[in-house]
Amino acid sequence: MAQYDVIIIGSGPGGYVCAIRCAQLGLKTAVVEGRETLGGTCLNVGCIPSKALLHASHQLHEAEHNFAKMGLKGKSPSVDWTQMLSYKQDVIDQNTKGIEFLFKKNKIDWLKGWGSILAAGQVKVGDDVHEAKHIIIASGSDSAAVPGADVTVDEKVVVTSTGALELSSIPKEMVVIGGGVIGLELGSVYARLGSAVTVVEYLDAITPGQDAEVAKQFQRLLQKQGLKFITGAAVSKVTTKGSKADVTYTLRKDESEHTLKADCVLVATGRKPHTEGLGLDALGVKLTGRGQIAVDDHYKTSVEGIYAIGDVIEGPMLAHKAEDEGMAIAEILAGQAGHVNYEVIPGVIYTHPEVASVGLTEEQLKSEGRAYKVGKFAFMGNGRAKANFAGDGFVKMLADKETDRILGCHVIGPMAGDLIHEVCVAMEFGAAAEDLARTCHAHPTYSEAMREAALACGDGAIHA
Ligand code: NAI
Repeated sequence: MAQYDVIIIGSGPGGYVCAIRCAQLGLKTAVVEGRETLGGTCLNVGCIPSKALLHASHQLHEAEHNFAKMGLKGKSPSVDWTQMLSYKQDVIDQNTKGIEFLFKKNKIDWLKGWGSILAAGQVKVGDDVHEAKHIIIASGSDSAAVPGADVTVDEKVVVTSTGALELSSIPKEMVVIGGGVIGLELGSVYARLGSAVTVVEYLDAITPGQDAEVAKQFQRLLQKQGLKFITGAAVSKVTTKGSKADVTYTLRKDESEHTLKADCVLVATGRKPHTEGLGLDALGVKLTGRGQIAVDDHYKTSVEGIYAIGDVIEGPMLAHKAEDEGMAIAEILAGQAGHVNYEVIPGVIYTHPEVASVGLTEEQLKSEGRAYKVGKFAFMGNGRAKANFAGDGFVKMLADKETDRILGCHVIGPMAGDLIHEVCVAMEFGAAAEDLARTCHAHPTYSEAMREAALACGDGAIHA
């Protein structure tokens, strides 16, 4: 008889959430994790530590730029980098220990070490072989190389997001390769801490896939904060000499070659599924053309009894998408109807201001030939935002022209990453913009801007 009902490989947000739900539903569960601590990339070297640095550097920005305006006088704080890193480590420790506590509480076994699958039902960890009815792969992703370029990461001068969270000092000049989520979040941390940051982006706009109006405004606001952008430029080579690096890029419009000097280069050109060492080849687990594990609607791989969720399968590489898949597969294995609604997965960039979106963009609606209406509201018309020096940005609500059903929402502004969720809930219920517009929103809150955008889809916003 199998020792376990379920063995999950990987303890990131996909794996640990899946484990907790499995245990709650009465399945005997174990998680294989080779790191010293639980929580995967997100808790150890991703979402959580980067948010600590974003928070700390934002406080510095407020002190430098807004305190005096509010009558808070005195010398601006200086940066004690060692202390900031130890604050970040403390945040990591609290979170990873929290998962360890939840494992104990839910009687989930942590099988320490790197796991490989010997056969359906058998997972090898170190010298031990563990048996389970179901195996779930939740092994996450790794930083991808810069496509077609000669770049060697040493995690000191040329770093991925992992090295960028523990630099030995704050760089004077930082070049970020890739104007996506990681590049802009970490780029803005170092810009606020005093680095001269240049972002080199292959496409003509930053944050590909984002609503174009939001992306444009986002770039403008980041430029105001001191970040420099070189768009339409492909990085071809990074050469290091001691603690310095030269970044060579080619402008796509005229093929001209240029070089930037830096003392830190952040490679942020995407992530790739982490599948090495799992033994998938020998098992015959099929991959997609992009190296992801191919699964059906119920997260089943091509091999009976083996499932996969999160960054190793198709879809946005987002912690919350992995979490939802983790809960869904747990429910499916327990005989329930687990399901993820991929139409309503929010995306958030935790810069200041934040950028958040859910559903379709205006560009997608246009390309699908859908009849839609746009309700826009600028945070400058929101009393709370004005009081908090947070009037930059806007809410853009997109609704079906005939039925008024909300099709998407794109926000750049204060707390956008929290605000977006009222639209997520509305979309889950198939709500119309009028439903949001008729919902009483407390005054004065940032959320009133969401209601105003919904009102703008109808007879008009009040404070516009
Ligand atoms: P990304 O896919 O968001 O952005 C990569 C960027 O690099 C693209 O804009 C691409 O055009 C550009 N690029 C590619 N090759 C280039 C070259 N040779 N020269 C210049 N630019 C080049 O990838 P990123 O930022 O590395 O993030 C990886 C994953 O992690 C994403 O799926 C992201 O959603 C996820 N993530 C999410 C976070 C969040 O939800 N807040 C935070 C951090 C990561």
